[in-house]
Amino acid sequence: MAFNNAVSLTSSMLVVIFSSVLLSSCYFDISEAGDDPPIVKGLSWTFYESSCPKLESIIRKQLKKVFKDDIGQAAGLLRLHFHDCFVQGCDGSVLLDGSASGPSEQEAPPNLSLRAEAFEIINDLRRRVHKKCGRIVSCADITALAARDAVFLSGGPDYDVPLGRRDGLTFATTNVTLANLPAPSSNTTTLLSSLATKKFDATDVVALSGGHTIGISHCSSFTDRLYPQDTNMDKTFANNLKVTCPALDTDNTTVLDIRSPNKFDNKYYVDLMNRQGLFTSDQDLYTDKRTRDIVKSFAVNETLFFEKFVLSMTKMGQLTVLTGTEGEIRANCSVRNSDNSYLASVVGQEQEVVTLSGF
Ligand code: HEM
Ligand SMILES: *[C@@H]1O[C@H](CO)[C@@H](O)[C@H](O)[C@H]1NC(C)=O
Ligand SMILES: *[C@@H]1O[C@H](CO)[C@@H](O)[C@H](O)[C@H]1NC(C)=O
Ligand SMILES: *[C@@H]1O[C@H](CO)[C@@H](O)[C@H](O)[C@H]1NC(C)=O
Ligand SMILES: *[C@@H]1O[C@H](CO)[C@@H](O)[C@H](O)[C@H]1NC(C)=O
Ligand SMILES: *[C@@H]1O[C@H](CO)[C@@H](O)[C@H](O)[C@H]1NC(C)=O
Ligand SMILES: *[C@@H]1O[C@H](CO)[C@@H](O)[C@H](O)[C@H]1NC(C)=O
Repeated sequence: MAFNNAVSLTSSMLVVIFSSVLLSSCYFDISEAGDDPPIVKGLSWTFYESSCPKLESIIRKQLKKVFKDDIGQAAGLLRLHFHDCFVQGCDGSVLLDGSASGPSEQEAPPNLSLRAEAFEIINDLRRRVHKKCGRIVSCADITALAARDAVFLSGGPDYDVPLGRRDGLTFATTNVTLANLPAPSSNTTTLLSSLATKKFDATDVVALSGGHTIGISHCSSFTDRLYPQDTNMDKTFANNLKVTCPALDTDNTTVLDIRSPNKFDNKYYVDLMNRQGLFTSDQDLYTDKRTRDIVKSFAVNETLFFEKFVLSMTKMGQLTVLTGTEGEIRANCSVRNSDNSYLASVVGQEQEVVTLSGF
């Protein structure tokens, strides 16, 4: 099925087409644009340039304050964008109450331990942006920009984010969520084939895993490597982890990158070369011949890592996005507008502003 055929159809038909590819693979209609990485139809580098020129400065200024108090929130925001994009595309569905990977799950498993504060930060940014510009910026775009600022304000590369995503109307169910997020126990074979369904190659997989250069994990995500002990793990590293996680079900956390846990740098790859990767999905990237040299190249050259990370993040940030008149611009990132009783009583659905600026 070609996207080019799809664009001439009505938006309601598009919704059907989008839904039908959600579980199979996400596709791109890439157009080359000078030195910038490729972007999909409907997104633009200048989307809110006239409608909300202060958008990016509002977000950056606020996040600087947030991270000054607690740099750990940067990791939470980066992971939130990853979960949004991998499950149903970057449509803000992860933010919806009732989404399986979102804040208040209806079903218990999977508990994916996204930080509650990350959802609050996004809604707070949304409030600030909408106060300044009106309800024209999507929660999905705000999440993408917050992830970018999380990377940059932790010491990583700065980069442009193509904008114009719209917010989805459907929830991420448990099944769809589980099918799209690889487990930390995955080996490289599983990881490569899982991410290949989203058109990511081995370099993308290694670069994106570099997101684990910041943030923390709960014991339950890696204790399978301690009891019994994984022979691919450095002994001292394992012994230290056993102190933090004395049993399989200990409710403790530890950092993902022992060398520089709060700095976005290439030390994660140095960890892997020293068998100090936390998850099997991390460590096996160095064990597996297909990805080992990529890990090494990032460990010795941070510039190269940053370059590839930006390309892969830009690709990830455009997975099955909604654009144009698809979806909506949520007035509250936690609920669809049709479920928003406050909005319904004040304006009604008919009056929702559809902005096409940037086209
Ligand atoms: C490739 C497959 C991936 C797997 C298997 C994976 C798995 C995990 C797991 C299990 C955790 C810890 C959850 C917990 O126990 O609290 C985690 C944390 C994290 N992941 Fe990933 N992840 C993957 C890819 C990514 C990507 C692509 C990014 C972003 C580019 C990312 C960014 C993060 C961050 C920043 C944290 C720390 C979150 C925090 O401190 O709140 N991960 N990941
Ligand atoms: C999920 O994990 C978080 C953090 O560990 C915890 O606060 C929360 O109660 C858990 N939720 C469920 C439904 O188990
Ligand atoms: C979810 O997945 C399970 C097992 O993979 C399957 O039995 C079940 O029917 C699925 N549920 C839905 C609602 O698709
Ligand atoms: C990778 O994991 C899959 C699924 O658990 C398993 O079937 C496969 O044998 C593993 N491959 C390697 C090379 O360890
Ligand atoms: C959590 O880790 C600390 C050290 O990092 C350890 O002293 C404590 O016993 C652990 N908590 C539990 C419940 O095991
Ligand atoms: C590191 O990577 C950058 C970006 O690809 C490249 O320009 C540079 O030559 C590399 N440095 C070394 C020492 O190989
Ligand atoms: C957003 O919606 C949630 C869920 O209905 C509600 O708890 C919250 O108060 C709302 N936030 C705002 C700012 O209206």
